[in-house]
Amino acid sequence: MTETPREHLIDWLRDAYAMEMQAENILEKMVSRLKAYPVLEARVSQHLVETRAQAEKVKGCLHQIDADTSAIKTGIASLMGTTQALSGALASDEIIKHAAFSLSFSHFEIATYVTVIAAAEVAGETSIKSTLESILTEEEAMAAWLREHLPGIVKQYLLTGEKR
Ligand SMILES: [Fe+2]
Repeated sequence: MTETPREHLIDWLRDAYAMEMQAENILEKMVSRLKAYPVLEARVSQHLVETRAQAEKVKGCLHQIDADTSAIKTGIASLMGTTQALSGALASDEIIKHAAFSLSFSHFEIATYVTVIAAAEVAGETSIKSTLESILTEEEAMAAWLREHLPGIVKQYLLTGEKR
């Protein structure tokens, strides 16, 4: 049974790692379908690179706290379901659905890091906390970018016929 702040921190860091693995999966699927949306394609590619580094940073935090990384969770059931449903959707508006889902997913990531940062603070893990804060900054930048650009992407889709 998990009891101490440190044990909770380890558990939630494992969740964060699983989430980043999922994010990598989503972004890889997305980036291959964005030829008609070069600005979105560039930003998603950049975030894919960031995401891979984030996964490594979270793994590094787990090593730092002496957690056994062999037991890292590799999936979150409900999240997996959502992603699979999305990736299976071949409707012509899948670009829009992916972009909107990415905005929602980026906020899920923000919530996850806000949580683990507070846990790291309570557990007295100052160095882990600052690593997680650097990741949070990237997630917030991605969320803000998507929030700003989603309307333009939707308009391009609706008005120019650039469906794929
Ligand atoms: Fe991320």
